[in-house]
Amino acid sequence: MIELPKELETQARETFAARFGGEPEVVAVAPSRVELLGNHTDYNGGLVLAAAIDRHTVVVGRALTASRDARVHAVNLNEDDAFAVDAFEPTAKGSWSRYVRGVLWALSTRCGPPATGFEAVIVGDVPLGAGLSSSASLQAAEALFLIASGVIPSAPPFDRLDSKNADEADNARVELAKTLQRSENEFVGVASGLLDQFTVILGRRDHALFLDCATAAHSLVPLGSPAPAIVVCDSGTSRQLADGMYNRRRAESDRIVEYFAARRPRPGAGDFLLSFVALDDLNEAWDKLDPIGRRRARHVLTENERVQAGVEALRRGDAAELGRLLCASHSSSRDDFENSSPALDALIESAAKSPGFLGGKLSGAGWAGCTVNLVDAESADDFAASVTEHYRTATGNEATVHVLRAAAGAAAARATPKLVE
Ligand code: GLA
Repeated sequence: MIELPKELETQARETFAARFGGEPEVVAVAPSRVELLGNHTDYNGGLVLAAAIDRHTVVVGRALTASRDARVHAVNLNEDDAFAVDAFEPTAKGSWSRYVRGVLWALSTRCGPPATGFEAVIVGDVPLGAGLSSSASLQAAEALFLIASGVIPSAPPFDRLDSKNADEADNARVELAKTLQRSENEFVGVASGLLDQFTVILGRRDHALFLDCATAAHSLVPLGSPAPAIVVCDSGTSRQLADGMYNRRRAESDRIVEYFAARRPRPGAGDFLLSFVALDDLNEAWDKLDPIGRRRARHVLTENERVQAGVEALRRGDAAELGRLLCASHSSSRDDFENSSPALDALIESAAKSPGFLGGKLSGAGWAGCTVNLVDAESADDFAASVTEHYRTATGNEATVHVLRAAAGAAAARATPKLVE
């Protein structure tokens, strides 16, 4: 059963009626995500512990059987996009419409050309550009809308998304996540890993998602009972720098990959990724390695260990230990990967002085944006007030605090009759 954020759904339906007339036929929803542990591990074939969170993107729309045109309205930005489904180019880098077009492109590469045109309205409450992956949330909601409405022809593997066979459905979801990652890499032009799309599609309420990015093996881990609150603090600093830095970090780690790949028994066979290097081997070769690259690599390899330790801590119900691991992750980001910032450090220091704090770290790419904190659920409101106060005193800036809960992954349903009253 699809769970819809009621206000967003109502807003989307009303906007759809006003702009296009009548009722949408399909409603799709996708959460956003936080990375709990596993920072910059995904594109290095490493481990991630993440959670889908209850800030969503809703897409409502209908297929246009008599047309080959697409018309899309983004409520939050009050912008429109219109294009022919058979011939379209990427729009400007960084624009929401580039993501919209990229999803259609990527699904078509797997299922064949679109069967029809479509009209759709997008609305969301995911803070934009804050490191919570509003883009993956948009991608997943749109993809499920395109598939459920028949704009994308029914074909493997996505015809199994609602299969009663759990393995088949799971496999279809994994393939969807990979397809949307490909859309972001090849059409949008952002060299991100699998973390974002995977989490927004496969997350579950009150669960964390444990993912091995090298194999896509994954499992859900309950966050405990009562689950700690997931509190995201937005530093108010902009992430404009992040894209260039992200690609630079990838290149820096690649130097270490090259060193170890060249020393394998059969160099050149298959894809060799940084996470295949043992931490002991990195430490042993330390003096021979590039001085920047080796610290980047140590961050990634110790993150993999922290993910494993975090999953074990969760499985034995030790939220305090998971929190400590988040703090260790932040220190490693700050010192080794250098993807923190004075604002993010101040936000973590402010959180550490606040009631109920179990642990926290920067969220996603880093350099600006948000931190993610685990907080005793009953202290979440006091924590929010305190962290804001401490951050203001330390920096003179205002933080925005979101108290969140792990949410279900993306879903779609026929929109008529209305599902939620
Ligand atoms: C961004 C990317 C993810 C991941 C994180 C860092 O959020 O989109 O794929 O690499 O940074 O862990």
